Parts: sequence; C-alpha cells; structure tokens
Amino acid sequence: MSRLVVVSNRVTLPQKSGDAPAGGLAVALQAALEERGGIWMGWSGKSSGAKEPAPLAMQTHGNITYALTDLTKTDVEEYYHGFANRVLWPICHYRLDLAEYGRKEMAGYFRVNRFFAHRLAPLLREDDIIWVHDYHLIPLAAELRQMGLKNRIGFFLHIPWPPADVLFTMPVHEEIMKGLSHYDLVGFQTDHDLANFAGGLVREGIGEALEGGKLTSYGRTFKGGFYPIGIETAAFADYAKKAATNLIVRKAKQSVEGRDLIIGVDRLDYSKGITQRLDAFEHFVKSNPGHHNRVTYLQITPKSRSEVPEYEQMQRTVAEQAGRVNGAIGTVDWVPIRYINRSIGRPVLAGLYRLARIGLVTPLRDGMNLVAKEYVAAQDPENPGVLVLSRFAGAARELRGALLVNPYDIEGTANAIARGINMPLEERQERWGRMMEHLLEHDVTRWCNDFLRDLTAA
Ligand code: UDP
Ligand code: G6P
Repeated sequence: MSRLVVVSNRVTLPQKSGDAPAGGLAVALQAALEERGGIWMGWSGKSSGAKEPAPLAMQTHGNITYALTDLTKTDVEEYYHGFANRVLWPICHYRLDLAEYGRKEMAGYFRVNRFFAHRLAPLLREDDIIWVHDYHLIPLAAELRQMGLKNRIGFFLHIPWPPADVLFTMPVHEEIMKGLSHYDLVGFQTDHDLANFAGGLVREGIGEALEGGKLTSYGRTFKGGFYPIGIETAAFADYAKKAATNLIVRKAKQSVEGRDLIIGVDRLDYSKGITQRLDAFEHFVKSNPGHHNRVTYLQITPKSRSEVPEYEQMQRTVAEQAGRVNGAIGTVDWVPIRYINRSIGRPVLAGLYRLARIGLVTPLRDGMNLVAKEYVAAQDPENPGVLVLSRFAGAARELRGALLVNPYDIEGTANAIARGINMPLEERQERWGRMMEHLLEHDVTRWCNDFLRDLTAA
C-alpha cells in the first residue's frame, strides 16, 4: 500500500485530555490518519519574526509522523488571516458582503502555497499518495506539479463551494479554479457543492463535466466527486455512554435541575448563525409561556480567528446579545442562556450532548457540520433527543430524521424547538434510529476509504 501524505493548514497533535482540536477538519483527519498511518504536514500554528522560518519540526506519535512548519508573521497575516479567512471563507459561505480583497493578501496566499510545496517536496517518495485539505491550500498541487512531481494528488474541500455568481465576484477566481484542475481528484462535501463547481467551469467557458464524474478545464482532465465527511460514530457513542460518570457532565446535569436542556456547540463564527439562534430561542420562550423556567440553553462557543476583525466584532455582539436575552426573559432563579467561550474536550461534549433534549445546529451555511452528527451519535437509544438542523448545513443532505429549519426564519426555528421539546418518545426514537443507522454506515473511516479508493483509481 502506498504511503499517505496529508497536508492541511491546521494540524492537531494528539491532545492532552481536555484539550479540544480546533474544528471539524482536525477532528476528522486525526481519526482518518490514526487508522491508516502516514505523514501529516501543516502549519505549527506559530509565527516567527525571522525572514525564513525554522526547518520543519518532525515528530512521530503512533503511526502518524507530523511535519510542522512555522510561518512568518507576514505570511500569517496575508495568507491565513488575509486571503484564506477574509476572502475565501466568506465567499465560500455566500457572504459577499464580508469579503475584503487586497492584492497583498492574494499574493501572500500564493506565496505561502509555494513555500508549503518547497517544504513538502523533500519528504516525498515517488509512490506516495498526497491528500491536500481545504481552502488554504488550493494552489498546492499546481506548485508541486511545477516542481516536476508526478504523484497522485487529491484535494478535499471541507467548506461549501458557492454558485458561479457568488464565486465570480472574487477577483482571482480563475486562478483558484485553475488551481483545482491540477489535482487528480477534487472532492466536495455534497452534490450541491460539486454541481456548483462544475456549473462554474461551464459558465466561465473553461471546462465541462464529462461522463463518469470526469471534469475538464484548462486542458486537464480530472475527477470530481462528493464525499460527505463522517465521524467516528461508534467510538463517539461509546464516549457518550461512559460520560455519565464524568464530573463536569454530572455537575451540568445537577445544575439544570430537571429543566429541558438545549445545546449549541460552534466555533464563534458568523457562518454558524448564532445570533439568529439566540433570537429563535428568545422567541420560543416568549411564545411558549408553559416552558418559562422549564428550559436551559447551553451555548458552547470557543473563540476562533480572533485576529480577524469580523470575528472580533462578533465576540462582542454575541456576548451582548446573550446578556440582553437573559436580562429580558430570565428570573431570579433562572438563567435561560448559559454562554461559554471555552473549548470543551469531545469526551465531555459527548456527555453534554446526551443530556440535551434538543441539539440546536443552525448554521447559515456549513460545509458539513460534525456537531450535528456527534449530537445524534451521543443520544441514548431509550430516550433520544431531537436534532434541529439548518437546511443549509451539508449534514442536512443526510440527516433526514432531523427537524430541518431555515435559520433566517426566527419563528420557524422557534416552532421547531417547541416541536422538538414536545415530541413523543416513539417519534424521537424513529427519527433517531434512521439517522444513527446512516451514521454508523457512513463513518469517517468510510469517508477516508471512499476518497482514497477514487483517488487511487483516478
Ligand atoms: N469541538 C470541540 N470542542 C468545542 C467545540 C467544538 O471539540 O468546544 C469540536 C466538535 O466536537 C466538532 C468540531 O469541533 O468535532 C467542529 O466541527 P464542525 O464541523 O461542527 O464545525 P467547524 O468548526 O469545522 O466549522
Ligand atoms: C473549519 C475549516 C478548517 C479549520 C477549522 C478551524 O473546519 O474547514 O479548515 O481548520 O474550521 O479553523 P482554524 O482557522 O482555527 O483552523
């Protein structure tokens, strides 16, 4: 079997218990690589003032060898905060209004991709399979090809891919699309994302979709597919079962005092629809007086990308809003919203999900959303909770047993919360059973195997 070399901007080393990895990509790749072994190259998360960052730091844990590179301060500013998170992220999440273009940032993005290629190349053997992840590293294959590399290279995008009219607002959209044509296989989360991509090629007159998932553009033929990412379903369900004895979970249970628990877990990101969700919760309480003082909403929201102005601004907005809603509907013996800005380790999260009667997952746009899947996996089969899920999350294409909502529709989401809380056991079990069956069959190992099978055959 060929060696697998994974490349992503964010890499998480094995955690001390309690340390949580940042986001879905790190969680999924760790699970996938633990199973198969290989090299994982990416950014160390550190920046240095030096002109040239220190050499790659190599460390091996189990069957994964991590190869970590520092970046210069300018690189982090231009490539990560600048182009990746202020242009590609908002555009791919349909937020044209938040995209901030700058020539310097765009140049920094392509420069850092070249730098990654030069650091990666010396590690590679001829028959290695290279698997590049996410929007930070789209031009990596083009750079590697330019250095003469003939290896199989696949790309998987963890976030949504927007329709042509949205994508084309980005000044360098052609270079980005061209970048993808240098891979042998380009994978998206959903059929919608793939269709948007293929549609964009056709609209721009630079390519077409052929039979058998083949795409052509810029004179290259490559494969496109969709591979909805999964979780370690069985292991996560096991965490949840065992977490009942965990001190934090026990304390949480005690402090809820018999009220129904609603849980939301998201990085503090504008794509997650947190403000609309708080509005919906307020609306639910106001329009259902019977649930006054009978429900607690726990929102766990680790800070994310705080150096990016839109994220920094959001930290204030959401904290103020949570305070305002508590002030408006709380009473001397009831704090309706518990708003936490710390990251919580997944074994504990699993226990909290299991305590919750409702999993409230309402992003305005999301590639997949692993939290939705984890919430389902964590439920007690005898008494499962209800998933209220945004129709704009990739997970909504699979989790048909959820109550699907439009997160922009505050009243609609409030009604779904009420419906979930009042849902009879039998219906909850039927909906949960359908989703759990799907998640057990389509776990992260299957995702990884499906992608690598197609990449090998491409
Ligand atoms: N997560 C975590 N601790 C937290 C918050 C989130 O471990 O306090 C994990 C969560 O369990 C999930 C991932 O971070 O595995 C978030 O992935 P998702 O796809 O939902 O969103 P992303 O952050 O990738 O946009
Ligand atoms: C999403 C992205 C990942 C990213 C994660 C956390 O899941 O798809 O690529 O790693 O968010 O964001 P961060 O900027 O902290 O890596």
